Amino acid sequence: MRGLFITFEGNDGSGKSSALQTVKQELLEMGYDVVYTREPGGSYIAEKIRELILDNDNMGMDPKTEALLYAASRREHITKTIIPALEAGKIILCDRFLDSSLAYQGFARELGVENVLNMNQFATEGLYPDLTILVCTHPEIGMTRIKKDERDMDRLEHEKMPFHLKVYEGYLTIADLFKDRVVVVNGEQTKQEVLDTVKNVLYPFIKERMG
Ligand code: TYD
Repeated sequence: MRGLFITFEGNDGSGKSSALQTVKQELLEMGYDVVYTREPGGSYIAEKIRELILDNDNMGMDPKTEALLYAASRREHITKTIIPALEAGKIILCDRFLDSSLAYQGFARELGVENVLNMNQFATEGLYPDLTILVCTHPEIGMTRIKKDERDMDRLEHEKMPFHLKVYEGYLTIADLFKDRVVVVNGEQTKQEVLDTVKNVLYPFIKERMG
């Protein structure tokens, strides 16, 4: 039996991760066999690559190097974590995946969506999520939320507003490109409203596919 591969996407400060934590907890309580994972990271070597990519000491990283490192970390994640869990029939809830590379490296770093998609094909061998929940929040709001949290910002979050705007617009274009699997959720609602919207999309989908 094949499991389900569900990804959560969104620009920085969109609110996706907090909704994800709550639904993960609720699905576990409902008795589903859920695996939570994230990118960059999600396996031993992939987490090491994550440290390298997000390190604030690496501000001068070439955009293609950055895209290749995300893809390398994705390859490790897929082979070590995602495929085994899918083969075991589990529900994978994954914080970021391929669409992050399309939005951040393809659009915001201006490497081109086609190029980044083609490059990732080597890593993913055509593995796409069954469902992608894309929480979109205008970056003026998203970055204000991050600054209010007063947590340390990583290398990508330190980018300026034009970069975050391109990520945001990139995501909306991706939603259009992959209409069959991407559902957009308005992250500008209250935390509770975002959560309720996510649940209204996710729970019927899981019920239909897994019973
Ligand atoms: P993380 O702390 O996991 O961000 P968040 O809590 O917002 O999910 O950091 C991941 C950062 O890496 C985030 O800014 C998005 C970026 N990223 C890419 O640029 N390309 C990618 O392929 C992935 C997976 C993430």
